[in-house]
Amino acid sequence: MMITVRDVTGENVDDLIMVCAGRHLEDLSMKPGVNARKQWVRDMMDKVGPVVKVAYMDGKPVAQIMYYPEVSIPYDPFPRSGVLRIECIYNSQPDAREKGVGKALLEALVKEAREGLPCMDSQCRFIVADAFYGGEGIPMDEFYQRYGFNWMNGELISLIHGEYESKKKREYTALEEDKGKAIIFNNRNCEYSSHFAQRIEKTIRDVAPDYPIIHVDLWENPEEAKRRGVTSLIVNAVQVNAFIGDLEKFTAEVKDALGTC
Ligand SMILES: CC(C)(COP(=O)(O)OP(=O)(O)OC[C@H]1O[C@@H](n2cnc3c(N)ncnc32)[C@H](O)[C@@H]1OP(=O)(O)O)[C@@H](O)C(=O)NCCC(=O)NCCS
Repeated sequence: MMITVRDVTGENVDDLIMVCAGRHLEDLSMKPGVNARKQWVRDMMDKVGPVVKVAYMDGKPVAQIMYYPEVSIPYDPFPRSGVLRIECIYNSQPDAREKGVGKALLEALVKEAREGLPCMDSQCRFIVADAFYGGEGIPMDEFYQRYGFNWMNGELISLIHGEYESKKKREYTALEEDKGKAIIFNNRNCEYSSHFAQRIEKTIRDVAPDYPIIHVDLWENPEEAKRRGVTSLIVNAVQVNAFIGDLEKFTAEVKDALGTC
């Protein structure tokens, strides 16, 4: 068994798609998100350099890690210089799990962060790993903590060349202009974002068929999220935090925001 790790470029971007969405490529609702992510990877390549690595097991793409400097996130109101964010790691192949693939991806990235990552224009002070759980393999927070990441002020941190600096955040306060409409933020760094946006729209329409709904692309129109400090759904000037995957909870929050429950 041989594990190799490669940066994702225009050449092997389809391998990345196979890792993340290979099982759902027949689903037509995935198509816009797949195309958007491919374009996003190319745009990031042009702007800052490679921001995703794919791991291959005996030549087959099986896992990915996605990362970028915080200062390259256009919708972050308070980006910190010298901070690398790991957006996600995912080994999608059950038969390739627990064989060292995830570790190889993280080690390759941390080594580059120490030596100088092409996507960072300054020395990496520390890495922040975003940790959520998609329901397969092991949860990301458990994974990162195995390799020296520690929780600090609600962030999973690994120090590289500097000290930790806490994250300044903008809290959403209800805006007059957000009343009477829904704003769906779409992040095309993930193939599933557009699919989820469609499901969110459908669920809102099921509750309120004619309700005005606006879609915002976080990378094309970042100011809308930046000035509000929000990347999740807003309905009637209320932030909806429930995940669309939990339909019951999500619908309840939407109804609450609409004042229809
Ligand atoms: C985290 C993840 C990438 C690890 O991938 P992997 O290829 O199995 O990782 P490795 O084989 O390199 O194992 C890494 C470490 O985790 C441990 N580990 C992996 N799977 C484990 C499991 N199911 N139970 C306990 N420990 C586990 C390994 O023992 C190893 O620890 P060690 O170095 O101390 O021995 C994978 O589990 C995953 O994709 N999880 C889901 C993450 C997620 O939700 N992503 C978002 C999807 S959109």
